[in-house]
Amino acid sequence: MTRETCRMITLPKIADPRGNLTFIEGGNHIPFQMSRAYWIYDVPGGETRGGHAYRTGQELIVAVSGSFEVEVSDGSVTTRYALNRSYYGLYVPAMQWRELVNFSTNSLCYVLASGEYDESDYIRDYGSFQKLAQEG
Ligand code: TYD
Repeated sequence: MTRETCRMITLPKIADPRGNLTFIEGGNHIPFQMSRAYWIYDVPGGETRGGHAYRTGQELIVAVSGSFEVEVSDGSVTTRYALNRSYYGLYVPAMQWRELVNFSTNSLCYVLASGEYDESDYIRDYGSFQKLAQEG
């Protein structure tokens, strides 16, 4: 089975002297239909968020304001992505362990998700994730 990989997606940017505009169409700019949006904000200095994987959920993570980094592991290789532009999105497919770190002051992390919130889709223990990831 071929797994989707994590990648940065450059979103459309309508440059305008009155202020720039960026948009996303599910299934067009990102490889899934979104059914939920959530955002993370007011993160105190030094805090981390995330630290879990989804069995089936896919996400696009955008630093709408400020910056932060996303550490993504497929169970063997870990890659760190810097998010610092409103027109970049990090696509994270299912079965990737991801952790959000190094939030700048007043940063805003906006996430589009493929499904409704479902705790049973979460894998919250890294050891269990690694075992499942290796089983493929
Ligand atoms: P969670 O995804 O576990 O964030 P983190 O890994 O950074 O701690 O979400 C934290 C809590 O918020 C969790 O207990 C459930 C709730 N939550 C919802 O109710 N709906 C949502 O869409 C999300 C993302 C979280």
